[in-house]
Amino acid sequence: MVISFWSAGGGTGKTTLAAAFALALKKYKKDIVLADFKEVTPHVHKYFGIELRDKSNIYEAVENGSSIAEAVNEHLQKKQGIWILSGFGMNDFAKFEEKHFSAVLEVLKNEFEHVVIDTSAGIFFSSTYTALKNSDVIFAVAAPSVWSIEDTAQMIDFVSNRWGVEKERFKAILNAVDKEEIDASTAEKILEIKTFNVRYGPKNIIRDVSKIAEFLLKKDTERVIDIKKAEEAKSFGIN
Ligand SMILES: Nc1ncnc2c1ncn2[C@@H]1O[C@H](COP(=O)(O)OP(=O)(O)OP(=O)(O)O)[C@@H](O)[C@H]1O
Ligand SMILES: [Mg+2]
Repeated sequence: MVISFWSAGGGTGKTTLAAAFALALKKYKKDIVLADFKEVTPHVHKYFGIELRDKSNIYEAVENGSSIAEAVNEHLQKKQGIWILSGFGMNDFAKFEEKHFSAVLEVLKNEFEHVVIDTSAGIFFSSTYTALKNSDVIFAVAAPSVWSIEDTAQMIDFVSNRWGVEKERFKAILNAVDKEEIDASTAEKILEIKTFNVRYGPKNIIRDVSKIAEFLLKKDTERVIDIKKAEEAKSFGIN
């Protein structure tokens, strides 16, 4: 399962929430990787206190047809019980295109049950395109303000109409709902997608993000049960 944290504008809390979400998944699942698909100025490595390394070996592997898995695995580091793939700095940004990011994501999907991606804001990078095209769930993180919600609505429309990413895959998170201008139910009406709240402060982040993780895993289990039931019904000749 691939889960992305994305937003229309910068600084809404993607990295903070993606990290909290990946750590919250530990309670229920093994095999979790948090992948930083932010280009130019990635932050996940700073969050976990690791060094940002140049990823030209991955670029070369894709170009030369050598083992991409080997190249990606060289960059994976375990921190706080989850695996981390740090982001793509200025040098990588100059080279990496969609096919390189897709190759990275393929490796991660093969190796991990849950891939949590922190993306760049907006619709301007091939890493964002690759992440959103391949995500089962996309959390659009917005500030609890009218403009932030309007920007989010516009960009979700773009991503679904131009990139063919179904709107059903999006969920919204209103983050740091302290001095709120707009509440989750109003945002839900504007965006027409399920909207969660994450309140202000580190303790609230852990509490609220854990609830979102629980909700998502429950949905995922129900989906698996539904698929199993459908398969059983088929094997009995019921349609
Ligand atoms: N719920 C919250 N409560 C308090 N502070 C928060 C909350 N969410 C995020 N922050 C703070 O807001 C700032 C921006 O968060 P973060 O770096 O996660 O945003 P981002 O969307 O990843 O930004 P960028 O677009 O630059 O990558 C950070 O200082 C973070 O600690
Ligand atoms: Mg960030």
